[in-house]
Amino acid sequence: MSFADELAAGLRAQPRRVSPKWFYDAAGSRLFERICELPEYYPTRTELALLDRHASEIAALIGAGAEIVEFGAGASRKVRILLGALEQPRRFVPVDISGEHLVDAASALRADHPGLAVQPLVADFTAELELPAAAGRRVGFFPGSSIGNFEPGEAERLLCRFAGWLGGGGLLIGVDLVKEPAQLHAAYNDAQGVTAAFNLNLLARANRELGAGFDLAGWAHSAFYNPPLQRIEMHLVSRRRQAVTIAGERFEFAEGDSVHTENSYKYTVEGFQALARRAGFEAARCWTDAGQRFSLHWLEPKEAR
Ligand code: AVI
Repeated sequence: MSFADELAAGLRAQPRRVSPKWFYDAAGSRLFERICELPEYYPTRTELALLDRHASEIAALIGAGAEIVEFGAGASRKVRILLGALEQPRRFVPVDISGEHLVDAASALRADHPGLAVQPLVADFTAELELPAAAGRRVGFFPGSSIGNFEPGEAERLLCRFAGWLGGGGLLIGVDLVKEPAQLHAAYNDAQGVTAAFNLNLLARANRELGAGFDLAGWAHSAFYNPPLQRIEMHLVSRRRQAVTIAGERFEFAEGDSVHTENSYKYTVEGFQALARRAGFEAARCWTDAGQRFSLHWLEPKEAR
């Protein structure tokens, strides 16, 4: 479905909602990169440190001559640590829905790893995926706790599909952990307002691409932790009565009406391992930081052990 169709369908629904995948146009991707650098947004820094600290153990688990498939390849800092530690990785296949980003990152990687084949694939891995024939043990890489942006049932189905695509290889996946709500609140309500701008960019994008006419000053960013569901919820809340038109359809909002734009689920180590098992993996190894903020899991398909 196109952005216009999904946005209109989401605004017709009750409660109103839009998928977070629409955050990531060029402006949204730049804002997300800024989020990753924020002092309050601990996941990126913590995961990078875990990768750095455990790179040789990870490399030994993966083995020599592997092929790495990164699902949703963004900035390449994380995979660079991994590739740098691996013994003669054969091929790197970054899979992303945005082609522009992929091609630039691929040429930079080729320059730095002359022996490595880099074969980007522009595809939506949440739908179907046609991977090229494997060149060596195929290992998946899914960092950043992107798994947290899926409903737990969807996350399980996605991991199940990963297991099929990896055909006996393992999966290295980053997962944000349940923690003190104040820390989570700060990470999604940063002092500089970058996360607010990221959330509001969804409306700015609708204005740019669809001429929707959202008045950004009429909307507020709202992010809070929902403890029973173990997730951060992001919403856009209307500050007053207002209306917009999308593809000829008028949508009215009262003061306080909200549009749910993202869930970011947090897991316990055991909770995530149970999910991974239901999806057909064995939780072979897990690394966490001293503050128990973030986890990195090495999963192996059950039949491979
Ligand atoms: C990409 N994803 C894992 C981020 C998260 O933390 O859920 C997206 C994000 N939303 C707000 N800040 C960052």
